[in-house]
Amino acid sequence: MKKPLYFDHAATTPVDPKVLQAMRTYWNDKFHNPSSLYEVARSLRQDLQAARHKVAQLMGARAVEIIFTAGATEANNLAIFGTVLSHPDAKVVTTTIEHESILAPIASLKKAGWQVEQVPVGRDGIVDINKLAKAIDNRTVLVSVMYANNEIGTIQPIAKIGQLVRQVRSQRRHKLPLNLHSDGAQAPNYLDLHVNRLNVDMLTLNGSKIYGPKQSGCLYVKSGTQLEPIIYGGGQERGLRSGTENVPADIGFAEALDIALKMRKSESKRLVALRDSFIRRVLNEIDGVQLNGDAVKRLPNNINFIIAGVKGETLVHYLDSVGILVATGSACSANNNQPSHVLRAIGLSKAAVDSSLRITMGRSTTKPALEYLFRQLKTAVNKLRQLADAG
Ligand SMILES: Cc1ncc(COP(=O)(O)O)c(C=O)c1O
Repeated sequence: MKKPLYFDHAATTPVDPKVLQAMRTYWNDKFHNPSSLYEVARSLRQDLQAARHKVAQLMGARAVEIIFTAGATEANNLAIFGTVLSHPDAKVVTTTIEHESILAPIASLKKAGWQVEQVPVGRDGIVDINKLAKAIDNRTVLVSVMYANNEIGTIQPIAKIGQLVRQVRSQRRHKLPLNLHSDGAQAPNYLDLHVNRLNVDMLTLNGSKIYGPKQSGCLYVKSGTQLEPIIYGGGQERGLRSGTENVPADIGFAEALDIALKMRKSESKRLVALRDSFIRRVLNEIDGVQLNGDAVKRLPNNINFIIAGVKGETLVHYLDSVGILVATGSACSANNNQPSHVLRAIGLSKAAVDSSLRITMGRSTTKPALEYLFRQLKTAVNKLRQLADAG
């Protein structure tokens, strides 16, 4: 059977062969515990440190500011709980379109008595900075706004939000901290990651979206940021993330980030051209389709449509049967069967949300692959609409 065409890169990506190669020796030859005292472990510690330096350098950060984690969910949890645990009556400000790994921790904080405010986004899927500014009060210790959305691909003005947070912080007369965290899990393939340009205090990155291993990633924590651990134990990762280091994953993540940043500009240019011509063609040639999220301030690889009169889930199964892998909302929301909170947040009705389709491109996406997708999509929509009319 021919390999299916993969258009679900926002869910996860295959591991780059160069990343696999970089990781290989750390599964068995260099399998030791980096905390051990003998020479081979010392050399492993150096390798791990070199990976940390590489990640830091790619983000314009310092090695001590990189905490390796098992993916973005853990990094997001660390940023949120790690900030608020020592401030029991503080406030957290975030948005309505964050990933579940922000929304679920926020919901649990709310239940436990913390004040939480979720700032809405506009129809374009971009957060309004004025509304965000109004939400930040004297008790606010954390502002968490994602860099790029995993469903509709919209890019938030993080550098500007960072300026706002700095300004409020500098005018504070009391000692309560105020930090900006951003979930950058979808960003590295396409967006600037330089932490000083972004004005962030914490930034989440993830290996599984950048052709690295799953359950790899990091939280950048700017020096001087107060953070409590959420996992206690042997004190690895500066005491912020105990547990024997996952050396192959950390090495693989660093290599994947290096490759992603080298390819960033050329891949962005290539995919923006493919994305825009595909969107134009679908809007012109298939009736009743609308694009979700801003047409320009979106990730180069993201296409998200509402296709009237067709259930997204049915379309996903149909396309699967002809060798095309796409998604409805995010892969995570497929787990809880809830209508996408992101599409609801940009003002779509439940019926419209049910008709959503997410196509996320990547390194393997070619013009002929998109041509095949277009033809199959058009056929599927016509067939499913005819069936609905007949029924
Ligand atoms: C924006 C965003 N944040 C966080 C995550 C969670 O990443 P992981 O499941 O690898 O922990 C994802 C993955 O879908 C994501 O897209």
